[in-house]
Amino acid sequence: MYLSKVCRLLVTLVLTPLVLTFPYAALGDDVATSESLTTLFRASRKVISVNQNLINDASKGHKGLDGKSVVEMAKANYKDASGKTLSSGKPQKAMLESVSEIMSEAQELINQADVGFKGFLPAIFARRVAGRFSQKMQGSMSIKLTAPKKYVRNRANRPDKWEHDVIENKFKGEGYENGKPFFEVAKSKGKDAFRYILPEYYGESCLGCHGSPKGELDITGGKKEGGVLGELGGAISLAIFK
Ligand code: HEC
Repeated sequence: MYLSKVCRLLVTLVLTPLVLTFPYAALGDDVATSESLTTLFRASRKVISVNQNLINDASKGHKGLDGKSVVEMAKANYKDASGKTLSSGKPQKAMLESVSEIMSEAQELINQADVGFKGFLPAIFARRVAGRFSQKMQGSMSIKLTAPKKYVRNRANRPDKWEHDVIENKFKGEGYENGKPFFEVAKSKGKDAFRYILPEYYGESCLGCHGSPKGELDITGGKKEGGVLGELGGAISLAIFK
């Protein structure tokens, strides 16, 4: 009698913390995966921003930005940004493969000589990589570059309701810490998911296209948004489906 009580107590003492911590441990994994993938996504896009002048150079044919070299530069940027070597998990591999494929497919365009601006931009690269990654993950994960509704240029990048609410009510809310991601378990496309979204802000280099005067055409032929330095200009949104 006494022994069984002690046993039950022991079992409770051992199991309760396990049961209680399990969901948080799982969430911790999702946070780590999200941090890794959004950092890698930005690290890859940075290769395109840093090489924008080279890509636009009309005096050069071959630019040396093939799939393999862009993947290597993305990995180096990842290490600089996170202080860690990229883990070789399935989603990380899928993202690097996506980067490589998108660059292979862009070779003809970016290696043209005698053409300056070719319309190959960080946001366009990012949209293509995101689409390819989401396809490769076959409904288990998806990533997307989005923006505040009033600033969206490409309808494919429009925020869904959850993204819109976080952008307007959290990121733009009084006192929200700059650069802090927001995450929670929520629906995405009607399915349960761990959702993670990271805000991004306009820097000086963005304003030639997204800045003032509002409505004036930029080099791409699109209308400038009238954005200002440091303003919330976009967000990277990741869903890990359950
Ligand atoms: C040369 C002009 C140009 C520059 C410079 C530029 N962008 Fe863009 N941006 C565009 C175009 C064009 C699109 C639409 C891309 C597409 O079709 O997906 C876009 C799309 C975006 C999007 C996706 C949402 C949308 O509007 O469709 C975000 C977010 C964004 N830009 C942020 C930035 C930030 C932040 C910077 C600076 C680091 C920047 N852009 C620099 C032209 C530019």
